[in-house]
Amino acid sequence: MKIVVLAGGTSTERDVSLISGSNIYKALKSRGHQAILLDVYLGYDTTEPVSQSLFDADIDWARDIRAISAEKPDLSHLKDLRRDGGKSMFGPHVLELCNMADIVFLGLHGANGEDGRIQAAFDLMGIPYTGTGYLSSAIAMDKSLSKQMFRAAGIPTPAGITAKNGQQIDPKSVTYPCMVKTTCGGSSVGTYRVEKSEDLAAALEDAYTFGDDVIIEQFVSGREFSVGVVDGTAYPIIEIAPLEGFYDYKNKYQPGSTIETCPADLPKDLTQKMQHYAEMVFQALGMRSYARMDFMLDTDTLDMYCLEANTLPGMTPTSLLPQEAAALGMSFEDLCEKLIEVSLK
Ligand code: DAL
Ligand code: MG
Repeated sequence: MKIVVLAGGTSTERDVSLISGSNIYKALKSRGHQAILLDVYLGYDTTEPVSQSLFDADIDWARDIRAISAEKPDLSHLKDLRRDGGKSMFGPHVLELCNMADIVFLGLHGANGEDGRIQAAFDLMGIPYTGTGYLSSAIAMDKSLSKQMFRAAGIPTPAGITAKNGQQIDPKSVTYPCMVKTTCGGSSVGTYRVEKSEDLAAALEDAYTFGDDVIIEQFVSGREFSVGVVDGTAYPIIEIAPLEGFYDYKNKYQPGSTIETCPADLPKDLTQKMQHYAEMVFQALGMRSYARMDFMLDTDTLDMYCLEANTLPGMTPTSLLPQEAAALGMSFEDLCEKLIEVSLK
């Protein structure tokens, strides 16, 4: 198949996405697909680790467009991404390439990739892409909206409030520890664990540098899990146990910093319940294709809570969905093929 893999972009998860995209690209190539990896911020692939793909000999179908490649732009302003987005992306030749492909594999994460905008544009242009549609992407990207949807569907989620930049929050009104999260972040960028009321203001101030909306969520003490759902059916549950602190950016991507167990060591009834809630989220948000839901289990009460849904979950070597697929005997390459298959349905 002719496949364009999109990665990079301008979100706070740009670096993660470049790794996901590069992994996906390599897997598709190894399966004989005519794949191209594009950094959508650049509009063409001149960054590491993606530099070679556009010039691969077998990419005849994109011969005219690959000639558009140009000098390397200055990326220094992307080094410290805080507010997602920034300069718009998606040069016309990116769209032209996508339009020529049999499917676009979205290796993007975060704003302008996972939030429904690209999905809506592709829908309008009739371009097939991997993953769920624009509306479920947009809802899942917003943790505050997602929680409202979870509650309406009877899916438990930690108690919390949404706060706007400039709004007065009485630190004494909050239960500690709590989690402060920018509503539209990913990979725990803009997420803080706050132990006491004196520290709330600083966490909020930092969270607001990523966006004007944050959630202040009750911390659930216990074990953390994640469940992929592919084509409506839950994959095996993975347990995530960081050696230190919570599952933050470092613990997500630094190999060896988190113990991940899949299938998770959970009694059958709890396994089934969590998988059922994950499938309920998929349905409640009107998802198609695939997604990954994150959960906390209160180890005292055995109550479980859905934290969020991720519509373009990570595909890096330390990412969770590939590990869940491996527990089913699927290689990373098999998973990529499966995600294409369910997306083209
Ligand atoms: N937001 C990251 C990529 C994940 O959910 O895996
Ligand atoms: Mg997330």
